[in-house]
Amino acid sequence: MQALSRSLRVVVTAGPTREHVDPVRYLSNESSGKMGFELAAAAVAAGHRVTLVAGPVALATPKGVRRIDVVSAREMLAETRAAFDAADALLMCAAVCDFRPKRRLKGKWRKKDDGADDAVLELVKNPDIIATLGRAKGERLVLGFALETSQGLRRARAKLERKNADYIVLNDASALRADRTSVTVLGKDGSERRFAGAKAAVARRLVGLLTASRA
Ligand code: C5P
Repeated sequence: MQALSRSLRVVVTAGPTREHVDPVRYLSNESSGKMGFELAAAAVAAGHRVTLVAGPVALATPKGVRRIDVVSAREMLAETRAAFDAADALLMCAAVCDFRPKRRLKGKWRKKDDGADDAVLELVKNPDIIATLGRAKGERLVLGFALETSQGLRRARAKLERKNADYIVLNDASALRADRTSVTVLGKDGSERRFAGAKAAVARRLVGLLTASRA
């Protein structure tokens, strides 16, 4: 008889972050949140308790998922840290903006008023959420994503180390906004797996890895 797998407390992050320049303008990216929402749904379907920390996306909350909406990377760090404190695993699927404007203006940026043809927006680095939480993860499982346009395997392997992750899921820009994806999953044990298909199916395979490693 097959042993029942343990119900885990899982934190999933999804979607982009937005980094505001002023009250009406922001920097962001093309992430739709689909993969992260599918991961949250697959984890609930596998019997886990799921907190989904979501950037701004137009997606319905999967049934049975506790959802926390955030906007910026710093808000995502705060909410993800709080949820991960009481969790067994972190699936860090969000496309976090690497940089944010150095200043968030209270009123609209009026740069064009001085007649210049170019403008400089000063940026500062955002915290790396997965690396920050990965450093103190202990026995908890951490899975991250890497979207690369070149030298994917080399860069994804470096991320395993740098972010102290158990798994890095490598994909490319074709996954953005799409319903299907094709990924290579690198494990810190040197393993390499390829999953392709609908994001929902790939999400089930990824949750399967989590369940297997914590059975
Ligand atoms: O370094 P890179 O952005 O390619 O790494 C991608 C992985 O790191 C993803 O899992 C993403 O969610 C996470 N990340 C993060 N905080 C950042 C940037 C990326 O947690 N500031």
